[in-house]
Amino acid sequence: MCGIVGYIGWREAAPLLLNGLKRLEYRGYDSAGIALLNGSLLVMKQKGSVSGLEVAAEGLSLDMQSATLGIGHTRWATHGEPSDNNAHPHKNALGDIAVIHNGIIENYSALKQELTAQGLIDKIWKSDQSLDLESATRSALRHVDGAYGICVISSREPDKIVVARKGSPLVIGIGTGEFFIASDAAPLIEHTNKVVYLSDGELAVITREGYTVKTIENIEQEKIITELDFSLEKIEKGGFEHFMLKEIFEQPAVMHDVMRGRVRLEEGRICLGGIEDYLDRLKHAKRIVICACGTSWHAALIGEYLIEEFARIPVEVDYASEFRYRNPIVGVDDVVIVISQSGETADTLAALRTAKEKGALVMGICNVVGSTIARETLCGMYTHAGPEVGVASTKAFTAQVIMLYMLALALSKGRTLSHDEIALNLKELSRIPEKATRILELESQIKDIAERFQGARNALYLGRGYNFPVALEGALKLKEISYIHAEGYPAAEMKHGPIALIDKDMPVIFIATRDSTYAKILSNIEEVRSRKGRVIAIANEGDQEVSRLAEHVIYIPQSSGPITPLLTVIPLQLLAYHIATFRGCNVDRPRNLAKSVTVE
Ligand code: M6R
Repeated sequence: MCGIVGYIGWREAAPLLLNGLKRLEYRGYDSAGIALLNGSLLVMKQKGSVSGLEVAAEGLSLDMQSATLGIGHTRWATHGEPSDNNAHPHKNALGDIAVIHNGIIENYSALKQELTAQGLIDKIWKSDQSLDLESATRSALRHVDGAYGICVISSREPDKIVVARKGSPLVIGIGTGEFFIASDAAPLIEHTNKVVYLSDGELAVITREGYTVKTIENIEQEKIITELDFSLEKIEKGGFEHFMLKEIFEQPAVMHDVMRGRVRLEEGRICLGGIEDYLDRLKHAKRIVICACGTSWHAALIGEYLIEEFARIPVEVDYASEFRYRNPIVGVDDVVIVISQSGETADTLAALRTAKEKGALVMGICNVVGSTIARETLCGMYTHAGPEVGVASTKAFTAQVIMLYMLALALSKGRTLSHDEIALNLKELSRIPEKATRILELESQIKDIAERFQGARNALYLGRGYNFPVALEGALKLKEISYIHAEGYPAAEMKHGPIALIDKDMPVIFIATRDSTYAKILSNIEEVRSRKGRVIAIANEGDQEVSRLAEHVIYIPQSSGPITPLLTVIPLQLLAYHIATFRGCNVDRPRNLAKSVTVE
């Protein structure tokens, strides 16, 4: 949520900052700005996208074009509407300090009254001449409650950038005689693969010669340099019109990547390195609680079904945002699994910390390597889906579901499933990428269906069992990128309310694959048809029965119930994508949304 970039080195800072901001635009795109320091300090900021700012930057003076130090920001508004004025960076009254802030300062109202037209850092700095930019920033942060990721520069100390974080992520990229700052690794990768992740409560001072990291309490910290393991091509569109479409199409490859080294087909076993030492404790957990938000929460629901079915361990799934505030009953015998693509979602992080405080074993399933959630969990597994840039999560979801599938099997080993049963499941899992590829080949059929339904105002997604969470996910995809109101329901629940909505204009998307509830789903389809609802069905290849009932059928390969979500979700992603593009929506940057929600 909101993106920060910074540069200090020997190259012209402005194009580097603007390019970095473009790579971070999925974090927020309400307004954007840069501050450049070259003797004097210049702030240029405006409402709208980075490309608008780029045009404005063409008018930079020669002096500012040659500035080799600067900071930049792309905003997702929390407090205050998107406007030129509310865009970051902000300057103090004298115009010699520029600050960028991500996050929410909870005591902002009290501070604002005290500081209007001056600035906290400036006020503290002026009150004590012995201070420097670093210590003035440190003191200022002691007055602040809430979450922040901040960058500060000043013409009074023109050769440094001070950064600090609590809640909002920050990464320092290490080049040769130059350093980069960013909210995540995406803008860094074309310049360096060496990074240092700041932890909460840390403040760094970066000059052209190097950097130091201390805590807000001024205690020096030893930081580990991490090597990034993804390439530039992973964060570019690679010929696709949108990142979302590219990421949908990447799924077969991602499925392979998630399983690589973990699914040992020949031996019929699973090897989950990140949790190996804790597997016994996991197997003997009294209960597993899974916390997540959004799409990750839908994956968690599938995880609940999988773990309970295979490993027979009771599982509860909680919205991370609710878990923290309802004083949950969790203790040392419980395992809490947090799932997050970004590894930075504020609510999920808060749930993790609550679970830790209560003594539970906390395990993470994250996509972004080195993210805060990944670092704060005791053990965990990376999904290895590669960077997900599209705001609507797609490949991260399928990767999470595979991860949970493997976890459920690993937990059942030696307890509830035999070696042969596990081997059989693994064999089926290993066939999933090829089946996913076949579904992607149906894109043009799905596009045709999308064209017919682009004018819909509402949509209902219905599924049962393993496909109920998929119905939720299909509805979320549609609403977040096309702005059509959509709801997902367990198909049988339809009769308890949503059926009242059905009329000749209502598309109802059924997931009607052949599993234990197939016959019931057919009856649900009949119920919708008799009320003139327009049925689109996802069914298994060769199913004639469904084609008799539905207006459109998307046929997918056969698979067992527990594995179907990995396949049924793909047509729903494509349907949402194409409906949204027919409606002229910017699917990679849906209104009001940000990729990573780092505020509560
Ligand atoms: O990074 P996370 O997985 O923690 O993010 C959770 C949600 O914010 C995210 O899944 C969101 O719902 C997506 N926009 C869904 O497409």
